Amino acid sequence: MAIFRALHPLALLACLSAARVIDLEKDLGAKPEDASEATERFNGQKLNESFAQMQPGDRLLIPAKRFHVMGGIQARNLSDVVIQLDGTLVFSERTKDWPRTATGGVLACMRFENLVNVTFTSAGRGTLDGQGGAAWWGFIRYLVHEENRPRLWEMSQIKNVLVERLFLKNAPYWTTSFGGVDGLEIRESDILNERTKHKGHDVYNLGALNTDGWDISGTNVWVHHSKVWNQDDCFTVKGTSSNMLFENIEASGLGLTIGSEGGNDHVSNITFRNVYMDRTFKGIYMKFRDGTPEGQLTIIENITYENIYMKEPEQWAIWIGPAQQSDSREFWKGHPCSLLWPAVPGATCSAAQRGLYRNILIKNVTVDNPKNQPGVILADKAYPMQNLTFDGVKVINWKGNKKNLQYKICDGVDATAKAIGGTDPVPSCFPQAEAESSLLV
Ligand SMILES: *[C@@H]1O[C@H](CO)[C@@H](O)[C@H](O)[C@H]1NC(C)=O
Ligand SMILES: *[C@@H]1O[C@H](CO)[C@@H](O)[C@H](O)[C@H]1NC(C)=O
Ligand SMILES: *[C@@H]1O[C@H](CO)[C@@H](O)[C@H](O)[C@H]1NC(C)=O
Ligand SMILES: *[C@@H]1O[C@H](CO)[C@@H](O)[C@H](O)[C@H]1NC(C)=O
Ligand SMILES: *[C@@H]1O[C@H](CO)[C@@H](O)[C@H](O)[C@H]1NC(C)=O
Ligand SMILES: *[C@@H]1O[C@H](CO)[C@@H](O)[C@H](O)[C@H]1NC(C)=O
Ligand SMILES: *[C@@H]1O[C@H](CO)[C@@H](O)[C@H](O)[C@H]1NC(C)=O
Repeated sequence: MAIFRALHPLALLACLSAARVIDLEKDLGAKPEDASEATERFNGQKLNESFAQMQPGDRLLIPAKRFHVMGGIQARNLSDVVIQLDGTLVFSERTKDWPRTATGGVLACMRFENLVNVTFTSAGRGTLDGQGGAAWWGFIRYLVHEENRPRLWEMSQIKNVLVERLFLKNAPYWTTSFGGVDGLEIRESDILNERTKHKGHDVYNLGALNTDGWDISGTNVWVHHSKVWNQDDCFTVKGTSSNMLFENIEASGLGLTIGSEGGNDHVSNITFRNVYMDRTFKGIYMKFRDGTPEGQLTIIENITYENIYMKEPEQWAIWIGPAQQSDSREFWKGHPCSLLWPAVPGATCSAAQRGLYRNILIKNVTVDNPKNQPGVILADKAYPMQNLTFDGVKVINWKGNKKNLQYKICDGVDATAKAIGGTDPVPSCFPQAEAESSLLV
């Protein structure tokens, strides 16, 4: 009570009146449990209005009910506020009526810009449901919408933001895209984008295309005690980024990703540790895309992946190389490594030009009963990977032919590459493996 006595009564009053709680239902009249289009629009408008009136110290409360909303929610310039989602925001399935920009691009489900000291929290487990399944996903609908689908949650220019106790599901496109970050903690928050209960990533489930999980660009980021199950990159570092730690997490999808990086991006000081990956498609995934101009260099350096257990990975457990992706309707083409490689003859996988990997440590990684060869290590010969270390990186319970227990491609590392700590198999292009194989000859 001492602190109260120390305050002038008027100051105390000002304090109390400043800290408003704005209730989306009681104060703004949003209607729960109704999926009509009129209500979706009305609730969306009420959410827009409530963000627009928030002042420092305020808390927006979304009660523990389901609120159906149209997408295109936007908020700007919030500081020192709390957004408490106790219930669920269900985004519309009405793709034709979705709000768009003048040039036809769909708006994100929610977009926040210029935030300082903002907390997204929940008294229970707040849910954002993008309803991607019927409305936006699948190979057929891809031909209609391609990548013009709404991200579930965008934020840009954010400083000191906390995200906790949220559950994000069925994102129409990327689940999140957080850019221009300086100070972000994400904890106890999960992402689930799946089409069926099948616990794996078959072709049907992978049709939930581009459903990236946490996609973050910036600096000073800590993500922990969170899970992602999706059909694209799970925890992802994008663009020029530094000082990020991802730990005590679970991921299944296209993995723990850095990239795709290109154009002058510089990534440094990123750690992923204490990770369990159940039937993931890719595991450790670092990737350069094409398009770094001549005379420039894209760099990924000072990276640690540590204490990772992959149970029955389905495609590539460890990939340090070019992006294996398509970004157009000509999905069979490599940008720069084809999605169809190596299954389809003629599909190519080449290293991206002018991408440099430096000081990369992969330590204490167990790949248990992989469905495929362990992975790909591939760099441009003009810029071989520098100081690449595999320490205790082991494939166990290999069910394939013994002579295939080797990386599918290993090319483009310099003389400092080393395999220690019982690493098995030793990647074939590492100096040690080359020395051993020359002894055998
Ligand atoms: C919310 O505000 C944005 C920006 O003004 C607008 O584009 C969008 O249509 C609004 N959404 C709704 C549901 O009113
Ligand atoms: C938000 O802040 C920026 C600069 O900080 C300013 O240019 C812009 O007008 C503000 N927008 C609103 C809606 O207040
Ligand atoms: C952040 O905002 C909260 C109110 O939501 C406030 O109590 C706290 O003092 C702010 N922190 C800083 C460092 O300004
Ligand atoms: C690396 O990033 C971590 C945060 O993950 C930070 O604590 C540390 O200071 C950074 N190291 C350097 C050398 O900047
Ligand atoms: C990367 O680590 C090296 C060796 O510890 C250090 O000299 C260099 O400054 C680091 N690079 C960046 C961009 O932090
Ligand atoms: C190695 O990683 C496993 C998870 O695969 C973890 O249980 C174990 O504690 C780690 N070992 C060390 C020495 O950190
Ligand atoms: C090589 O990488 C390790 C991390 O694996 C780092 O500690 C070391 O400083 C790097 N060596 C040089 C010469 O940068």
